Amino acid sequence: MKIIDQVAAVRAAVAGSPRVGLVPTMGALHEGHLSLIRAARRSCDLVVVWLFVNPTQFNDAADLDAYPRDQERDAALAADAGADILFAPGVETVYPAGFASTVSVAGLSEILEGAHRPGHFAGVTTVVAKMLNMLRPQVAFFGAKDAQQVALIRRMVTDLNIDTEIEVLPIVRESDGLALSSRNVLLTAQDRQRATALFRGLSAARQRVVDGERDAAVLTGVVAAALAQANITADYVSVVDPATFEPIKTVTEPALIALAARVGSTRLIDNIEVTP
Ligand code: PAJ
Repeated sequence: MKIIDQVAAVRAAVAGSPRVGLVPTMGALHEGHLSLIRAARRSCDLVVVWLFVNPTQFNDAADLDAYPRDQERDAALAADAGADILFAPGVETVYPAGFASTVSVAGLSEILEGAHRPGHFAGVTTVVAKMLNMLRPQVAFFGAKDAQQVALIRRMVTDLNIDTEIEVLPIVRESDGLALSSRNVLLTAQDRQRATALFRGLSAARQRVVDGERDAAVLTGVVAAALAQANITADYVSVVDPATFEPIKTVTEPALIALAARVGSTRLIDNIEVTP
């Protein structure tokens, strides 16, 4: 695996490959990221892992400082999962002096995660637009864990005629259900235990849908009750349309139940699909 940090060099390295697969990450790689790299390996000629802790999507300086970083470990894991190139540009390469443009998706970027993290999604869509322009991959791989991010990127790619297929892979979870996240290492042992309430609540709500419940307010109540048992208050729990993230009152079509919650000082997100 080659490690590259310059745009011209990575462009030269991908030139001529019929099917380039891009896996965007902020590092601190775990099985969730590795599942994306392995999927890319299966369907692409050349697999590029993007590694960049993007400062513009952090709306809290302390969160950016605390973000785990270990490029050597990430390089070993990426290579092992089948990456051909680790592209790890510096901040000055992604945002050189004079940088002034932003890509933002109206509406979708302002609700739920967007409402709680002002500016976050503009940071995400801008850096994703940049990487898709730098590398022009045939396909880019994202995780369903960040469901609103996926909805935004799909919207952006459609709206801006970006010629990259967006492939989405399922959430990878620990054996107790906690969704893998680079932030999980920041949880204390006790908070790690409490955090299992997120998936417990989402699973209980999904079971209620299987049993015939259709009222979104009842479903969010089921999730909130599971969180309350672990002394967790959610930033939001919402039943939404998977493409638009508009809230749904009655579940008549496949929907997502999405939540964010602070467990100790760590903010976690999760979601589950429900099908009536
Ligand atoms: P990051 O949080 O590092 O996540 C990189 C990719 O891994 C995302 O597509 C995310 O949804 C996926 N992922 C994370 N945890 C997962 C899990 N448990 N199961 C499956 N996939 C999982 O998302 C970002 O970085 C950034 O916003 C980025 C797109 C790189 C732009 O900076």
